[in-house]
Amino acid sequence: MATTALMNTYGERQLTLVKGEGMYLWDDQGRRYLDALSGIAVCGLGHSHKGLADALHTQASTLLHISNLYNIEPQQRLADLLCEQSGMEKVFFSNSGAEANEAAIKLARKYGNDRGITNPTVITMNGSFHGRTMATLSATGNPKVKEGFAPLLEGFVHVDYNDIEAVRAAAQDNVVAVLVEPVQGEGGVNVPAADYLNQLRELCDEKGWLLMLDEIQTGNGRTGQLFAFQHNGITPDVVTTAKGLGNGLPVGACLARGQAAEVLQPGNHGSTYGGNPLVCQGAWTVISTLLDEGLIDNAAAQGEYFLSQLGHRLGDNAKVVNIRGKGLMIGIELDRPCAELVGKATDEGVLLNVTAGNTIRLLPPLIINREQADEVIDTVCKLVEAV
Ligand SMILES: Cc1ncc(COP(=O)(O)O)c(C=O)c1O
Repeated sequence: MATTALMNTYGERQLTLVKGEGMYLWDDQGRRYLDALSGIAVCGLGHSHKGLADALHTQASTLLHISNLYNIEPQQRLADLLCEQSGMEKVFFSNSGAEANEAAIKLARKYGNDRGITNPTVITMNGSFHGRTMATLSATGNPKVKEGFAPLLEGFVHVDYNDIEAVRAAAQDNVVAVLVEPVQGEGGVNVPAADYLNQLRELCDEKGWLLMLDEIQTGNGRTGQLFAFQHNGITPDVVTTAKGLGNGLPVGACLARGQAAEVLQPGNHGSTYGGNPLVCQGAWTVISTLLDEGLIDNAAAQGEYFLSQLGHRLGDNAKVVNIRGKGLMIGIELDRPCAELVGKATDEGVLLNVTAGNTIRLLPPLIINREQADEVIDTVCKLVEAV
């Protein structure tokens, strides 16, 4: 019997998962599940990764927390690795994705205020999701998640995703930044035109705006590059990430370069836990393992396999509107609501998710192999055919 002592923010939960290893999870009845969700794009290395567990054990036995009043060696190592791999220059560490975006939004506002813009505005997209704190909720382009939380923060203008002219039309003197997901995750795995980010980069350069990419979900190898913007050969001014960075450890990062990297100064922002020795040693191990073991290339290859197989087997199905994705971030949009498929997949021994009401979402660990991909594909095809 589940406790009644938790706030009802997540609704009723059916499954109690008690153990994980690699691509698999086990429930309290001993039943095994193939994980095609990774704790919502988090566990890229899968579950109970030995190298990560050992690194955490060693770090926890050495130094867990000291605060940001002191130099933190694992934090410095992680910052160097992320900058070296992304072309960014400076990092602020947070404890979650929303907090990484909070840092980015504060950075954009200060960037504006430093230039005499006292009412700075950030352009964000319809269908976006940036988090549940008040600023990130205000930035989010989904009215449903905002309901009941008025008054929201001012300073955000929403325009259609994947529409460069809509961004251009929103230009006003007080705009300071564009905040955008390279692929919209919660909004339904929406993949924009191949040159959308390049066009945004050009427009931001022309207007003197910061290009701020929310890579909370798309970062850390998920799309087949360490960061999704690396598919486009551009560099943003600010990029935020979390989720796969810690493989389950609460860690987020706001990276910046150029003028944006100099905006936040002592006293402007901070966090007691942010970037503590434990999570940074863990995140450094995660990113190093992804790079050393070729898991980002695996994400790209397996992602292509998913799209080709799903296209081949479901492309002609009248119920399927669209199959799309990048790397191991895959959506199968149906012509009807399909939330019940989550429970049906669980019954088949596969954990997956439905987002935006009608889109089956696959976000498997980046360690997935061909056989496991086939099992997920078989299950999805069976479920869609039975709808
Ligand atoms: C693109 C994006 N931004 C921000 C967030 C918020 O991250 P967190 O739940 O860690 O606060 C999410 C979470 O789903 C996300 O997908």
